[in-house]
Amino acid sequence: MNNVKTALVTGANKGIGLATAEGLGKLGYKVWLGSRDFSRGQAAVDQLRSKGLDVHLLLINVADDSSVLEAARILKEQTAHLDILINNAGVALDLKTLPSGENMNLIRQTFETNTFGPIRVTQALLPLLKAADQARVIMLSSIVGSIGLSSDPDVIYGQVNFMGYSASKAALNMITAAFAKELGPLGIKVYAIEPGHIRTALNDHTGTLSTEEGAAVPLRYATMTLDAANGGFFGPDGILPW
Ligand SMILES: NC(=O)c1ccc[n+]([C@@H]2O[C@H](COP(=O)([O-])OP(=O)(O)OC[C@H]3O[C@@H](n4cnc5c(N)ncnc54)[C@H](OP(=O)(O)O)[C@@H]3O)[C@@H](O)[C@H]2O)c1
Repeated sequence: MNNVKTALVTGANKGIGLATAEGLGKLGYKVWLGSRDFSRGQAAVDQLRSKGLDVHLLLINVADDSSVLEAARILKEQTAHLDILINNAGVALDLKTLPSGENMNLIRQTFETNTFGPIRVTQALLPLLKAADQARVIMLSSIVGSIGLSSDPDVIYGQVNFMGYSASKAALNMITAAFAKELGPLGIKVYAIEPGHIRTALNDHTGTLSTEEGAAVPLRYATMTLDAANGGFFGPDGILPW
């Protein structure tokens, strides 16, 4: 195995993913910037390369089986191992409609990206993750996926009701725990991360924190030496309830 540290961030052409790709580049990683769209992805790659970072475009639509398999094939041609996988790509297609009226097709699309996407990407890249020395997989979850907090009327999360989006992230938390159980003995840590309330397109830029602040949490759990329990759910201030 060579000494180049490698990382892939999905959905990294903007938002938290772009800031995370930049952060990894600044830490010396060779980064593949995942984007489902060539032009948006290339513009983001050009932006980070102009800052002197070792960043490469990987076309990947996490909601599409054949796109993910093709991306994995291409990545395998370009690196023998992957130290960090950040499953960041995500959508919030309806944060306004109450559960009784939520559109099934939008819920399906949300799960296809937020929940099934991280499964198919992690499965497809497992050979590269196993070939790394102590790889990390980070799932961009959300605090609104915490069933415990969403049923507590005394906190803000008990008052919002985003059925499709929140359920997609609650399921992602279980997926995190399940992958951690299998991959932990192989030296691979898998964490679900809540980044904070970040100003991005996903929430019409209503968040309170910058994308750099949002990237700080996945970066911390992807790169630092931690005692954090494998398979756990963590936010800016540490462990979160399921
Ligand atoms: N913002 C927050 O406060 C917040 C809080 C908790 C969790 N999160 C999570 O953080 C992650 C990043 O969100 P963000 O706030 O940075 O949102 P964002 O600015 O809207 O970025 C989302 C990224 O995901 C990409 N994407 C969407 N569907 C995709 C697909 N099928 N395949 C590949 N890429 C896809 C988007 O690409 P396009 O440009 O092509 O659309 C974009 O690059 C998401 O998983 C989100 O749920 C965000």
